[in-house]
Amino acid sequence: MALLTVDKLNLNFAGLQVIKDLSFSVEQGSIASLIGPNGAGKTSVFNCLTGFYKPGSGRIDFDGRAITRQRPHRITRRGMARTFQNLRLFKSMTVLENVMSGMHCRTRAGAIGAILRTGSQRREEREIREFCESCLEFVGILGEKDRVASNLSYGTQRRVEWARALATRPRLLLLDEPAAGLNFDEKQRLIGLIKRIRDELDITVLLIEHDMGLVMKVSEMITVIDYGRKIAEGNAQQVQSNPKVIEAYLGREEDEEP
Ligand SMILES: Nc1ncnc2c1ncn2[C@@H]1O[C@H](COP(=O)(O)OP(=O)(O)OP(=O)(O)O)[C@@H](O)[C@H]1O
Ligand SMILES: [Mg+2]
Repeated sequence: MALLTVDKLNLNFAGLQVIKDLSFSVEQGSIASLIGPNGAGKTSVFNCLTGFYKPGSGRIDFDGRAITRQRPHRITRRGMARTFQNLRLFKSMTVLENVMSGMHCRTRAGAIGAILRTGSQRREEREIREFCESCLEFVGILGEKDRVASNLSYGTQRRVEWARALATRPRLLLLDEPAAGLNFDEKQRLIGLIKRIRDELDITVLLIEHDMGLVMKVSEMITVIDYGRKIAEGNAQQVQSNPKVIEAYLGREEDEEP
């Protein structure tokens, strides 16, 4: 069963067609990847899925319901979470505060309640804190919870983002280039973490990633786009041997030469 279905999605920016008639789906319980050369439109697809961009036409169904052009916080509440290509942490907040900041979409009291603080809200806040701590434990950085985010290594800051996304209790987690900037050991741990997110938390994962070794190791289904269009899809073996994929990557590398 598909958890996410994208049907004939189109997105334009000032005449530039960034996404063209793109259709693909992500199976419930799978680890899937969206790949393509720089500027192919991958992040724009995530931005449409999460409501940051409004597609010109097409349809997005998530968990059996249309979410096309809904606002980001509603989509988060429906069970979709993401991490960003560039880190977006609150640098002066602690690790735990950053993770808790991701959760206000789920609280009954919300931000106002956090200021007024009735008894039931205090209880709710304690439950939230404990749940956020369990998310930090899951990604392996509970020991850092009281440190200020800006003082952490890049790899640890990325983990804070993953914990913040997990704290929204998603059914689908979108990771935009999670391996970027990580060293070899951190990448190996990332592969393990992605598999544990799916296996232990039962969260479906869709990732954008340029590290092909990582993509091929974790993905059960890969969608390849180039200039906003789907050019191939299949498992690692099918995609790697597809001439259109090889051409898209090699062709673009030649373009980049001076
Ligand atoms: N807000 C925007 N306004 C104008 N153009 C945009 C906007 N967002 C994306 N684009 C354009 O859309 C195209 C696709 O960009 P996008 O960031 O989605 O690519 P990408 O596949 O994620 O690339 P990369 O691998 O470099 O992250 C690019 O030409 C980009 O300049
Ligand atoms: Mg991108």
